[in-house]
Amino acid sequence: MKLADNKATLSFSNGSPSVEMPVYQGSIGPDVIDIRKLYAQTGMFTYDPGFLSTASCQSAITFIDGDKGELLYRGYPIEQLATQCDFMETCHLLLYGDLPNASKKAEFSKTVRMHTMVNEQMQFFLRGFRRDAHPMAIMTGLVGALSAFYHDSTDINNPEHRDISAIRLIAKMPTLVAMAYKYSVGQPFMYPKNELSYAGNFLHMMFATPCEPYTVSPVLERALDRIFILHADHEQNASTSTVRLCGSSGTNPFAAIAAGVACLWGPAHGGANEACLNMLEDIQKMGGVSKVGEFMEKVKDKNSGVKLMGFGHRVYKNYDPRAKLMQETCKEVLQELGLENDPLFKLAMQLEKIALEDEYFVSRKLYPNVDFYSGIVQRAIGIPVGLFTAVFALARTVGWIAQLNEMIGDPEYKIGRPRQLFTGSERRDVKPLAGR
Ligand code: CMC
Repeated sequence: MKLADNKATLSFSNGSPSVEMPVYQGSIGPDVIDIRKLYAQTGMFTYDPGFLSTASCQSAITFIDGDKGELLYRGYPIEQLATQCDFMETCHLLLYGDLPNASKKAEFSKTVRMHTMVNEQMQFFLRGFRRDAHPMAIMTGLVGALSAFYHDSTDINNPEHRDISAIRLIAKMPTLVAMAYKYSVGQPFMYPKNELSYAGNFLHMMFATPCEPYTVSPVLERALDRIFILHADHEQNASTSTVRLCGSSGTNPFAAIAAGVACLWGPAHGGANEACLNMLEDIQKMGGVSKVGEFMEKVKDKNSGVKLMGFGHRVYKNYDPRAKLMQETCKEVLQELGLENDPLFKLAMQLEKIALEDEYFVSRKLYPNVDFYSGIVQRAIGIPVGLFTAVFALARTVGWIAQLNEMIGDPEYKIGRPRQLFTGSERRDVKPLAGR
């Protein structure tokens, strides 16, 4: 970390001595005030629920400029990665710090391919779930269960274990998501086919059956690959911070990633793609485009509890660059499938148009986020709504593991242990039961 020339001084109105704190500079983005000695010097904590002003770590992986609407993985703009690279290259970039050359790419892709199968026993574990279980419930269980099957890669302090668990997680996530889907529809599991690309293989495991030949559509394969790239990492979001916090106790990588899957499930985070599609379907059932105005009034009414899902972001106060790319992919996919007049897409465009002109959204800087269009693309590909967040988890796994490994390699890393402002009862004595 690079010290800035200036320091921060914290002064108190009650005459307590002021405290000087160092300031560090990042390569881009806001500087940070180092408050680590604050408690020792003043006996006080800082208070920042929701981490609105708190950097929880230093990281060199992903940078977001929320005002500009810019997203960089290891310095590369997401627009260039999405149009010039594939997901395997993006995984290499996030994990190892740079884009691979052709031979490194081939070697990395081969290594991932060699790990796509899961221990056969995993399917018996999966069969313990109800057929109608939510795929994210299944994924939380399955990913955690990997630690019970791959004992030789569970030591987070061993660099070789970390490396192999990273590859295993990236390679096996598509297999697990597809197994969760096949189980829900009562079809046989399809083993991975390693001559296919990462996205192609996922499509094959999802939609092929042992009875019919299955050909991967290059347009859908490219669309899915783009979904994976756009979701691969997003700096210190809720699920990534969960993975870091969970991993900071020294637990194994599979357990830490399972915690990330659980966090991602929530509708304020990865679950928004499912919630957004459900919202579009609900409006469609109410009457479609003609009901958009009425729906928007509900969204703006604080007492209704209704939100425009797929809109707003803690960091982006401008158009989410991933949403732009996703909208492009959405058009391409719908055209390929002859669904240009898809009513949900039309509805989404109409909602977006109104929201971008409406004072409520403009003044709060609420723009579409990645989830606004990703659900429509996934649905067009044939992925059921309940599986959307699992596909997000599949794609985000590389980001989680890159962030986890970065944390373990950071000499400043400590177990995460926030403090609190206690507002409960002061010390009191227990009265005998009869006297309470
Ligand atoms: N619809 C209506 N109002 C909204 C929305 C929305 N989608 N998002 C924010 N607002 C309002 C909010 O009520 C608040 O208004 P006011 O200042 O009058 O109280 C203001 O905008 C600021 O919102 P906030 O809740 O303080 O912002 P936050 O940073 O805590 O929350 C968010 C960010 C993403 C949780 C929120 O915008 C939201 O719930 N959006 C819908 C869910 C969604 O699409 N999530 C996906 C996020 S991107 C992918 C991912 O991270 O997984």
